[in-house]
Amino acid sequence: MKKILVTGGAGFIGSNFVRMMLSEHKDYFVVNLDKLTYAGNLENLAEFMEHPNHKFIKGDICDGGLIEKIIDEYRIDAIVNFAAESHVDRSIMEPKVFIDTNITGTLTLLEVARNRKLERFVQISTDEVYGSLGPEGKFTEHTPLSPNSPYSASKAAADHLVCAFGHTWDLKYNITRCSNNYGQYQFPEKMIPLMINNALNDKDLPVYGDGLYIRDWLYVNDHCTAVFKVLQKAPPGEIYNIGGCNEKTNIEVINLILNRLGKSGSLIKHVTDRPGHDRRYAIDASKIINELGWKPSVSFEEGINKTIDWYLQNSTWLDNVVSGDYLKYYESMYGNR
Ligand code: NAD
Ligand code: TYD
Repeated sequence: MKKILVTGGAGFIGSNFVRMMLSEHKDYFVVNLDKLTYAGNLENLAEFMEHPNHKFIKGDICDGGLIEKIIDEYRIDAIVNFAAESHVDRSIMEPKVFIDTNITGTLTLLEVARNRKLERFVQISTDEVYGSLGPEGKFTEHTPLSPNSPYSASKAAADHLVCAFGHTWDLKYNITRCSNNYGQYQFPEKMIPLMINNALNDKDLPVYGDGLYIRDWLYVNDHCTAVFKVLQKAPPGEIYNIGGCNEKTNIEVINLILNRLGKSGSLIKHVTDRPGHDRRYAIDASKIINELGWKPSVSFEEGINKTIDWYLQNSTWLDNVVSGDYLKYYESMYGNR
């Protein structure tokens, strides 16, 4: 039985990864460490809380003593670090916590991984570390890092630390850099679930700037299978881009959501643009496809339909997360626009 520490496993991608591991890979024991910030929600894993191969621990990746205790007690073989502050707009409003979790937290995990000589450290990074593209070209693993937001700068700093630990102490690591994810359990601050939630409630859909910004969308389950391929098969020290070749403008995606929900385009409101907004992301995923045999299995059309259906069928989940912190946040973002 392999024992892995998954951090951030109560968040969007982390909880989908934990669900996949417990459902499909019975030879893994998952310790799931999550601070349960606004973005972490144990409802995401309700049916797995008592699973014999799952142990949930509430805690902070910045707490080195706790990490050491977990590694020793559960004889952890590898860490998969999903834990992060993950939203660009929040990083523009309040960058400090992004430095704490994304940089200091990753450093804390790296120190323990090095001291305990873990078999593998998988850092879940993002394509946003590469910066922004013009109309042509795609990010490869050789594209220089050029992050533009406090979020992507903190993720790039973490990537550099991971590589430095590999270079200096021979830590066995991998880094994955995935494009924008969408799917079930995504907190409705990110574009797709925010637009679904607002459209369902006949609220304005706040489109930043001209709405012609491009993202390369990947269904979350496909990201999870890619991370598992890396954990299972990747040689140490390798970095992999992950993406689905699904470039869409924001306005295209929003119109698709409106059509599917039978709502009027008059809900669309162009609002003040995000400062420093990256124009286009696009991923060249040929390395992971050719070297590890991964490929995305869900087309955008199928994935977006499944996602909309999931939000329609899980209105209680949506109601529960769209309260408290979220409302304050939403008002601070859009109240004065
Ligand atoms: P999320 O915000 O939904 O979840 C983050 C989780 O980390 C939450 O459960 C939160 O409680 C937990 N967390 C935050 N700070 C913590 C701390 N100090 N200690 C322990 N747990 C903490 O994020 P997500 O969208 O699931 O993203 C997961 C990872 O994937 C992040 O590292 C992100 O940078 C990366 N990523 C995300 C996307 C995307 O489109 N969402 C794309 C590429 C990469
Ligand atoms: P987001 O989901 O925040 O992901 P990221 O900024 O990490 O790519 O945003 C996706 C795109 O949608 C991005 O171009 C910003 C835009 N956007 C809006 O136009 N309105 C919104 O309310 C949000 C949250 C995002």
